[in-house]
Amino acid sequence: MRLDIISIFPEYFAPLDVSLIGKARERGTLDVRVHQLRDWAYDVHRTVDDTPYGGGPGMVMKPEVWGEAIDAVIGASAIPSGARSGGYAQGPGEDEGRGEGEARATPQPSATGSVGPQPVVPGADAQTTVEPGTVEPGTVEPATVASRTPALPRMIVPTPSGRPFSQELAQELAQEPWLLFACGRYEGIDSRVMEEYSGRLRVDEVSIGDYVLAGGEVAVLVMVEAVGRLLPGVLGNAQSVVDDSFAPGSMENLVEGPVYTKPPVWRGHEVPAVLLSGHHGNVARWRRDEALRRTVRNRPELAAALDPAKLDKHDRKLLDELSFRVRRKDVAN
Ligand code: 6GU
Repeated sequence: MRLDIISIFPEYFAPLDVSLIGKARERGTLDVRVHQLRDWAYDVHRTVDDTPYGGGPGMVMKPEVWGEAIDAVIGASAIPSGARSGGYAQGPGEDEGRGEGEARATPQPSATGSVGPQPVVPGADAQTTVEPGTVEPGTVEPATVASRTPALPRMIVPTPSGRPFSQELAQELAQEPWLLFACGRYEGIDSRVMEEYSGRLRVDEVSIGDYVLAGGEVAVLVMVEAVGRLLPGVLGNAQSVVDDSFAPGSMENLVEGPVYTKPPVWRGHEVPAVLLSGHHGNVARWRRDEALRRTVRNRPELAAALDPAKLDKHDRKLLDELSFRVRRKDVAN
């Protein structure tokens, strides 16, 4: 997966060198490119913001700078196509790449790959691969749709007014070959930027929770970690993403219960005996009970959203004991 991140604080993304995500980058599973937005500013002060129309506090990020930056990163700049180098298809690690925060003297497309320019086909499906020399501009070859490197990324704009980020959205984003994160600061990005690119890319404004951060950078770190750990080969154990809290499937609308390791007794606290029993069926049932208990206690609104059709008799009995009522009329038989 390729990830481009545009921000006025590229230093924020140093943690992406560390741990699971850092390893995935070393292996080439993830190709992360962090860009300094100010590289596309056009005045001596490298200004990226201005006062809001209609008045009010704070500053708004200027559309022209964002437009130049996004065009360059997606390989759609106004530079004549003959003078451009490829936008994507080079292998990981070949670009100026890992140098997060490196200032560039001159704004330029980010890659120097062996594949030629990626023509921008107005109105073309963002999923369509347009490989120079194989497809006439403006045409779509059905066999190539969504089956190869895309011409364009899916764009994510972190903002507290966006749609909620969730495990489901993380799983959806983990299927994408190319994501572009546009980090706003101040009061946000001039809305016409999202309007402009919605005509060319899939654009989602996304919030990570009901609180306000000073900028989108930390939210992008959150999303990249949630998405990155779902990529094939990033976690040691593929089963762990299935058992995750919130994972669509048997953990939908459930949080995980408690976990234990050795020793069996620590400061007088015992590990629940069932976990030492070696009885897999009983262990699975106990884990589900604990997930239900914790969900009712910590996340009653999630428990209320449990699909009654997916609850077995034992689940319902436990919820009854916890005096948590699943709406009766919805309960299967
Ligand atoms: Cl995505 N951005 C900002 N600035 N604040 C947030 C957020 C995002 N999600 C919750 N608060």
